[in-house]
Amino acid sequence: MSLVRKSLIPLLAAVASVSAASASWNTFISYDNEFVAPEIILSKPWTKNNNTLDAAESIVSWADTLGKQGPWSVTFKPFTAPTKDKHDYLSWAPYWWPDCSGVGNKTELTQEEIWVTCPYKDRDGKFVPDVRLVNDTGSFAGLCDAVFYNAIAWQITDNEDYAAKAVEFIRTWYLDDDTYMNPNLNYSQVIRGPGVQVGNHYGVLDMKTTSKILTAILLFRKAPYAGWTAELDGKMVNWSQRFIKWLETHPFGKDEGSTPNNHGTYFYNTMVSHQIIAGNTAEAKRYLDRYFTTQYLAQIDANGEQPLEVIRSRTYHYRAYNLGAMITNGKLGQYIGYDAWNLTTTKGGTIQKALDWAMQFDPATTGEVKSAPAQELYQHVAAVGSVYGDPDGKYAAYLARVSPDYPQSPFYFWNQPLALPKNYLVTGSLPNGSNNTGSGGSQTAGGEGDGTGAAPRAAFGPALTLVGAVLMFQLARIALPQRV
Ligand SMILES: *[C@@H]1O[C@H](CO)[C@@H](O)[C@H](O)[C@H]1NC(C)=O
Ligand SMILES: *[C@@H]1O[C@H](CO)[C@@H](O)[C@H](O)[C@H]1NC(C)=O
Ligand SMILES: *[C@@H]1O[C@H](CO)[C@@H](O)[C@H](O)[C@H]1NC(C)=O
Ligand SMILES: *[C@@H]1O[C@H](CO)[C@@H](O)[C@H](O)[C@H]1NC(C)=O
Ligand SMILES: *[C@@H]1O[C@H](CO)[C@@H](O)[C@H](O)[C@H]1NC(C)=O
Ligand SMILES: *[C@@H]1O[C@H](CO)[C@@H](O)[C@H](O)[C@H]1NC(C)=O
Ligand SMILES: *[C@@H]1O[C@H](CO)[C@@H](O)[C@H](O)[C@H]1NC(C)=O
Ligand SMILES: *[C@@H]1O[C@H](CO)[C@@H](O)[C@H](O)[C@H]1NC(C)=O
Repeated sequence: MSLVRKSLIPLLAAVASVSAASASWNTFISYDNEFVAPEIILSKPWTKNNNTLDAAESIVSWADTLGKQGPWSVTFKPFTAPTKDKHDYLSWAPYWWPDCSGVGNKTELTQEEIWVTCPYKDRDGKFVPDVRLVNDTGSFAGLCDAVFYNAIAWQITDNEDYAAKAVEFIRTWYLDDDTYMNPNLNYSQVIRGPGVQVGNHYGVLDMKTTSKILTAILLFRKAPYAGWTAELDGKMVNWSQRFIKWLETHPFGKDEGSTPNNHGTYFYNTMVSHQIIAGNTAEAKRYLDRYFTTQYLAQIDANGEQPLEVIRSRTYHYRAYNLGAMITNGKLGQYIGYDAWNLTTTKGGTIQKALDWAMQFDPATTGEVKSAPAQELYQHVAAVGSVYGDPDGKYAAYLARVSPDYPQSPFYFWNQPLALPKNYLVTGSLPNGSNNTGSGGSQTAGGEGDGTGAAPRAAFGPALTLVGAVLMFQLARIALPQRV
């Protein structure tokens, strides 16, 4: 156990009793998407500032949990795509149901027969019960989280077992002879039924969390990690190059890339991540510029509303969901020198305005408490507060009100500087309960008033202030939007 880990324990013990009620920090949440530049991780914020110790501990805890769940591979599923190639990615359109009423049915059909015999019909929003019999979608999400947290946990603990685990998972999914995935999504979100079965362009969304893999690979390259060999790196570059080619030439890639709403935004998260892995910085910039000069322009109104996201019923969710993708594009841009944070839409919106607008809504009032946990927005609040600053303390006040223990969340680790709930460090414990308007409701930015004397803003230059973007794991599953 490293010194860092030891030093975490007293604070953690103090926090444990208080956090039992809200307990958000040790409940795993799969963020929509995330990208953390290697410079942030290697600057080891927890050694400079005790503020981030709890978040570091959460990251290690999540890495431990996720590390036990892998590895993942498309070859592990019991069925194959119509190609019969076990290396092909496959997912089924989640809302399409079989209608066997018109099918001559003299004997009971096996499930495999149903898939190719009965016509499938759309029941928007209703999951067909067998959809996760083929769970490449869930597997990829699990892979990305496990790789992301294990890579960062390696730096936090100095224990190479975490890095080795992340590398093992990357190899199994992308590179090893027996288990690799073919670099295409020809069979993502396949609509089953008689005739030729193909996927559709919405399935490209399945790869959206590739920026979590990118986070790990950049860390391995920069740290560096000897277990991430030149051979593995070269194979990964090759995989990215071939996948980029698929994205650029296959109709699904092209269509998804010009989708106006969150699908289009996430397309760029995926495309740009692979371009960076492949070393094509100029191409990565060109794609980000394409996003910010096309789709982005129509995505945010002057008041911050996202008109293309609120035309459907789950408005709290979709505002947050697209924010996650926009913020990730902003972070990827910051990493490669494309500054998007101040770019305005045609009507004068910015990412910050979109967040400010979304913050005023409560999922309880939009009937989304069950389907869109409120936490979906919290990481975006932290990200925006970190990137744009929080001079009047409104982001800190929001977080302290809705989630008093937010400094224990992994997102707090990489969204510095960000203010703490009042007295967090003085008392070594968190404010009472979730209704925290009294103790944490008026914070100033940059750690002022948090009792540290060591303002995080001083420790982290603007160049290191990257953003977080997020969403719950289940939500990510439920949320896969089927149409624009
Ligand atoms: C962190 O806390 C420990 C124990 O209170 C203290 O000795 C150390 O100086 C602090 N480190 C920083 C960077 O503030
Ligand atoms: C086919 O018919 C059998 C026997 O009537 C019935 O049990 C089964 O549910 C039917 N299968 C389908 C797919 O309709
Ligand atoms: C699909 O994968 C996810 C992530 O690994 C997992 O949480 C979920 O339980 C899986 N679903 C099924 C039905 O196997
Ligand atoms: C994917 O599908 C297209 C047709 O839609 C086909 O031309 C291409 O060969 C397929 N790619 C792979 C790698 O199977
Ligand atoms: C990737 O590697 C394969 C096999 O070594 C090779 O045939 C192919 O040309 C490479 N692709 C790219 C884009 O470098
Ligand atoms: C936005 O532009 C202003 C004025 O140039 C600058 O002070 C600020 O730092 C920029 N904000 C971000 C997040 O880049
Ligand atoms: C929490 O609330 C209890 C009862 O209201 C109070 O005695 C205690 O001091 C509070 N603790 C903190 C840390 O605010
Ligand atoms: C929560 O805070 C509000 C004021 O912001 C207050 O009206 C309400 O009574 C508080 N609820 C509890 C349970 O303390």
